[in-house]
Amino acid sequence: MTQEEIKRLVGQAAADYINTEVPEDSIIGIGTGSTVNYFIDALTQSRARYRGAISSSAVTTRRLISHKFRVFELGDIESLPVYIDGADEINPHGAMIKGGGGALTREKIVAAEADRFVCIADASKLVQVLGKFPLPVEVIPMARVALARRITKFTIGTPVLRLMHNGKPFVTDNGNEILDIHGLTIDNPIVLERSLNQWPGIVTIGLFALLGANLCLLGTEQGVHRINYIKHVYSS
Ligand code: A5P
Repeated sequence: MTQEEIKRLVGQAAADYINTEVPEDSIIGIGTGSTVNYFIDALTQSRARYRGAISSSAVTTRRLISHKFRVFELGDIESLPVYIDGADEINPHGAMIKGGGGALTREKIVAAEADRFVCIADASKLVQVLGKFPLPVEVIPMARVALARRITKFTIGTPVLRLMHNGKPFVTDNGNEILDIHGLTIDNPIVLERSLNQWPGIVTIGLFALLGANLCLLGTEQGVHRINYIKHVYSS
């Protein structure tokens, strides 16, 4: 199977999962990325089962609307039983690097409101130690140069401003910029997330360790495996 075929398989498995585990008439949280796109396509068949969705990005909102899902604002809802999203890396404890698509801030906001985070990924995303994939950090543009200097000074890693194809800075849905930190070996994701969260000018770290996955649907050549995580490993 190609990686795309495995992603499609995972997207279908995620739709099957929520169709059996999530009550009818629920609103569901939906992330961003190519694996999520397959999930949205698969869920379209059972769209009538759900009241609608909370979206984590403008691009996902457009896809949901084109598939005739009702998209709610986060402030309109009282409960969110599940959030489904991909990851750029996931470790054996369910901590993730996310934000390769640039949607990390809204992804973290929606994930924080959900009862369960279900990560959908192909097996290439499973790593022992996070950090080979550059860690996205969304920053206020005014602070970007100072933050890049500070990241270098504290030898966190090598910050690189994310650019678009035209050479201009990538701008997030929130009007901010992204520094991708290269060269990391993240032995303790909780400590790094907590520490960088304190730096003025940083909006969101693409580390989802304090708020890791509850379950991963991991696509492999042999099929989709379910990996459950014990949350207390990473909480408090
Ligand atoms: C989006 O900002 C990311 O957090 C995605 O969840 C991540 O990049 C996974 O994307 P793919 O499913 O396309 O690999």
